[in-house]
Amino acid sequence: MSMQVADFPAIPADPGRAETYRGLELIRHDPCGVEILNVDLTEPLSDDRFDAVMEVWHQGRVIVFRDQKLEPDDQLRFGRRVGELSVIHTEKFAGEDPAIMYISNVKEDGEFVHALPVGEMMFHIDQCYKPTPAKATILYAMEIPAEGGNTLFADAIAAYDALDEDTKARIEGLKALNVYDYDAGATHTADQVSDDAPRYAHPIARTHPVTGQKALFINRLMTREIVGLPADESRALLEKLFDHQENPAFVYEHRWRLGDLLMWDNRCTLHARRDFNPEETRIMRRLTVLGEAPE
Ligand SMILES: [Fe+2]
Repeated sequence: MSMQVADFPAIPADPGRAETYRGLELIRHDPCGVEILNVDLTEPLSDDRFDAVMEVWHQGRVIVFRDQKLEPDDQLRFGRRVGELSVIHTEKFAGEDPAIMYISNVKEDGEFVHALPVGEMMFHIDQCYKPTPAKATILYAMEIPAEGGNTLFADAIAAYDALDEDTKARIEGLKALNVYDYDAGATHTADQVSDDAPRYAHPIARTHPVTGQKALFINRLMTREIVGLPADESRALLEKLFDHQENPAFVYEHRWRLGDLLMWDNRCTLHARRDFNPEETRIMRRLTVLGEAPE
């Protein structure tokens, strides 16, 4: 029986204790996720500071800079420092720059004008249906509902590490096919995907190019089959792995605050969205940073 996003236990109230690391004031969360409290991204970062931020990101998989007041150019400057930005191909969703996409429930003339406007969204990995999925996604909270709309991050390295040795051996060298049909299954798995929906097979156990750690690189929303296995065997193994990687022990839940600039490592985390009141406005400004071919 798979767990729905709505079934996840409530976020813990304990905010954690701040520590200082390489000049950064941090609050670390379990099992992943680090708040960075003393960086202002309207200013360019020194090389040393940027290097420290990236180190914390690689350790923590998800970082969030609190209390930012960012124009599009500020967010673009930080994003380009992380790497080359991907260009939004769905023209109607693009913002001031071809790399900016808005995720919001804003309506004009009664119609949603941005991507993924409302509702809960299952665990997934951005662009895993492409040959080179994003390495990072960078979201800036411009407007948020009073409650709900939290983002859950599942640590895919912790999930891989916790597998039993037999399962690790079984998935070694296997690839899984990821498909995304935005029309039929934008937020929940599609029963049927259209033949022209974008798809790509990637290793189930992916090695992180920086840390060398292995991550369980599949997800319930987009991964449809294990290449080369009979359908029933593939389905049974995938369901077991999805349930495992969505174990709340591997999940950090981010409760958004206005002005959060959050960046996740899309190579070793999955993310999901909780539901929120559709009558309240939620606007996120998003960038994605191009990644490597998973190995
Ligand atoms: Fe996403």
